[in-house]
Amino acid sequence: MKKASIILDRDYRIGAVDRRLYGSFIEHLGRAVYGGVYEPGHPQADELGFRKDVLAMVRRLGVPIVRYPGGNFVSGFNWEDSVGPRDARPRRLDLAWSTTESNQVGLHEFCEWARRAGAEVMYAVNLGTRGPEQARDVVEYANHPGGSKFSDMRAANGRKDPFNIKLWCLGNEMDGPWQMGRKTAFEYGRTANEAAKLMKWVDPTIEVVACGSSSSEMPTFGGWELTMLDECYENVDYVSLHRYYDNAAGDTASFLARTMDMDGFIHTVASICDAVKGKKHSKKTVNLSFDEWNVWYHSKGQDEEILRRAKWGEALPLLEDVYNFEDALLVGSMLLTLLRHADRVKVACLAQLVNVIAPIMTRPGGGCWAQTIYWPFLHASKYGRGTSLRAVVDTPVYDCADYEAVPLIDAAATFSDDGTVTVFCVNRDMAEGFELSLDLRSFGDIRLQEHIMLHHGDVKAANTEAHPDTVAPMAGPGGTVDGGRATVHIPALSWNVLRFEK
Ligand code: AHR
Repeated sequence: MKKASIILDRDYRIGAVDRRLYGSFIEHLGRAVYGGVYEPGHPQADELGFRKDVLAMVRRLGVPIVRYPGGNFVSGFNWEDSVGPRDARPRRLDLAWSTTESNQVGLHEFCEWARRAGAEVMYAVNLGTRGPEQARDVVEYANHPGGSKFSDMRAANGRKDPFNIKLWCLGNEMDGPWQMGRKTAFEYGRTANEAAKLMKWVDPTIEVVACGSSSSEMPTFGGWELTMLDECYENVDYVSLHRYYDNAAGDTASFLARTMDMDGFIHTVASICDAVKGKKHSKKTVNLSFDEWNVWYHSKGQDEEILRRAKWGEALPLLEDVYNFEDALLVGSMLLTLLRHADRVKVACLAQLVNVIAPIMTRPGGGCWAQTIYWPFLHASKYGRGTSLRAVVDTPVYDCADYEAVPLIDAAATFSDDGTVTVFCVNRDMAEGFELSLDLRSFGDIRLQEHIMLHHGDVKAANTEAHPDTVAPMAGPGGTVDGGRATVHIPALSWNVLRFEK
C-alpha cells in the first residue's frame, strides 16, 4: 500500500466558500426543460407541470443557483417571446441547436420552478443577435417594482412583485464561431460595458458576468480576456470560464489529470483580471464565474444522427451523455479544483442539470435516476461549505501522455462553523490503495465521523434507470484518530469524503 500525508491547519485559509460554487445550468436545449424539469401529464407532475421527482433530486443536490436560459440558445433568444399568455407565445427556430422552441416554459415559469427547487436564477441576456437595449428591458421586466412599461407588463402577466434576479450573464461564449452574433473581443467588451451600465442603472443591486473566452483551448483565449476587460472592467463583477473534458482517446491516466489544465486556466484568468486592474489603477477586483464545467463527449456521435433525422424537432434527446465511474472521479477532482480556488471563483455551474450532460436523467412518462457524477457533486455541495482550507499534500506523483508529475492523491478541505472538518480526496492510482496520514492537531480533539466513498472495479460502469445504484456511495474503510493525527485507508481509484467532528 502506498503512503501519502496531508497537513491541515484551521488558519491555513484560502477563503470562504461562496454557496454559489455549487450552481448548475439549465438551457433550452434537448430534454433539459421539456421532458426534463417540465412534463405536464407525467404522474409526478405538479399543478404547473413540473416533475416533483426531479425537483426532489435537484433539492437533494442543494443547488443554490441555476443559470438560464442558455448557453448558445440565448444568443438568438427574444425574452419577450417567453412571457405573457402561453397560447400567444411564438414557436421559434433555435439556430443554436437546430430545433424548435415552443416558449411554453419562460421567465415566469422558470423562476417559479427555481423557487420550488430552492435555487436562485442566474439569468443570461442575449448579446448575440440583440444588445444593451433588450438587456436593459429584461432587467426592468424582472426587477423594477412597477410604474414603467416592462414592470407593468410583468404585473399584467400575473406577477406583481419583482423577481429580483441578482446575477446576470452578459451573453454567452461570444468568441465562438458557433455563436449567433459572434464578436471580436473589442466589439464584445464595448457591448458588454454598455449593457452592464444600462442594466445597473435600472437596478444597481445586480451583479453581472462578462464572457471570458469559451474555453482555454480557443485561439482567442487570453487576448480575449485582456481586450474585453480593458473595455468593461469597472462595470462587470465576474468573468466567465467554460471547460468540458473528454476521454475520447481512451487514456484514463491523462483524463483523470485534466484538472492540471483547469487549475492553470483559473490561475491565468485571475492573473489577467488582476493585470487589467493594475493597468487601470482600479480598487475593484473582478472575480471568476466558472459557469460551465463538466465532462462532455459520450453523446457527440449520436447527436449528429438525431439531428440528421429530426432537424427542427422539439425536445430531442440531445447531449445525453451517459456518465461512467471515471467521469465521476474527474468531476470530483474538478470540484476539488474549484474549492482550492474559492478565493477567486465565487460562482460555478455544473453544466448542466437534467438530461443534457447532466447528473439527473429522466424517462418520459417514467422514472428519474442519478448518474455517477451526481454523487461527488452532492457530497461537495452538502459538506464542502464554510471555509476552504489549504491542504498541504505530500503524495507520490505519476507521468502520463499529457502531463508530468500528477499527484496521485488529489485533495481539498473545508472547515465549517460547527467545527466540522471535511477532507475530500480522489485517489488517481488505478492499481493501489493508500494509507493516508492526516495531521489535524490544530482542530483539537476530533474524531472521524464518517468515511463516504465512491468506488467501482470498472471505470466504465454507469447507472441506468433499471440499475440506478451500480455506482453509488458506500461506506469507506475509515481509519483511526489519535491526538489529532488520523490514518485512513483510501482504496485504488476512488472518491472519498472524510468527515471529522469534535
Ligand atoms: O452546455 C452546452 C453548451 O456548451 C452551451 O450551450 C454552450 O455555452 C457551450 O458551448
